[in-house]
Amino acid sequence: MDKKIKILGFAGSLRKGSYNKALLNAAVELAPENAEIEVFDLEGIPLFNQDLELQPTQIVREFKEKIKAADALLIVTPEYNYSMSGVIKNALDVASRPPSDRIFAGKPIAIMSASPGRFGGSRAQYQLRQTLIVLNAHPINVPEVMLSQADKSVDENGKINNEDIRKLIKQLLEELISWTKQIERK
Ligand code: FNR
Repeated sequence: MDKKIKILGFAGSLRKGSYNKALLNAAVELAPENAEIEVFDLEGIPLFNQDLELQPTQIVREFKEKIKAADALLIVTPEYNYSMSGVIKNALDVASRPPSDRIFAGKPIAIMSASPGRFGGSRAQYQLRQTLIVLNAHPINVPEVMLSQADKSVDENGKINNEDIRKLIKQLLEELISWTKQIERK
């Protein structure tokens, strides 16, 4: 049997009832048998201070080690003021330093977003993709998982109950696994 693909997932909201965390949890639940998703909680990642980039705190070291060890990443971002959340941007900035570490280079990545609004965080996703260019990561393009009107798709236990989005999440994970295998063969 092929080895299990290790995916590290993180969501850019610190809110308990976060729709984006709910999306990530759905992905954990829906992961195919040949993959496992570990969730990294971004709570506690300090605000980036370049003076301190060579003395990372324990949680930053752990975050970077887990990114390095993962075969692929699953990044879930809210949309704040038409852009990715500061929590996600800060986490990417922190983990991208020092640049000689290049921990995102060549990393297969899938992206999801959720918003109570009509556009499902699409603007945040496209902005996130721009940041992934300079990190030289390899995000997959489709399917785009953008959950609009998220409040209507999450039940009182924080579970995604929208069958269409659940199918799309499954498809996204299958694409991510296939993309990861293609990249590893190179
Ligand atoms: C928002 N929200 C929002 N939604 C959206 O679709 N486009 C936007 O530009 C914004 N802008 C925005 C700015 C700020 C400062 C806040 C606090 C919120 C709404 C946002 O999508 C909503 O609060 C989500 O619930 C946030 O994601 P989590 O915490 O549910 O994962």
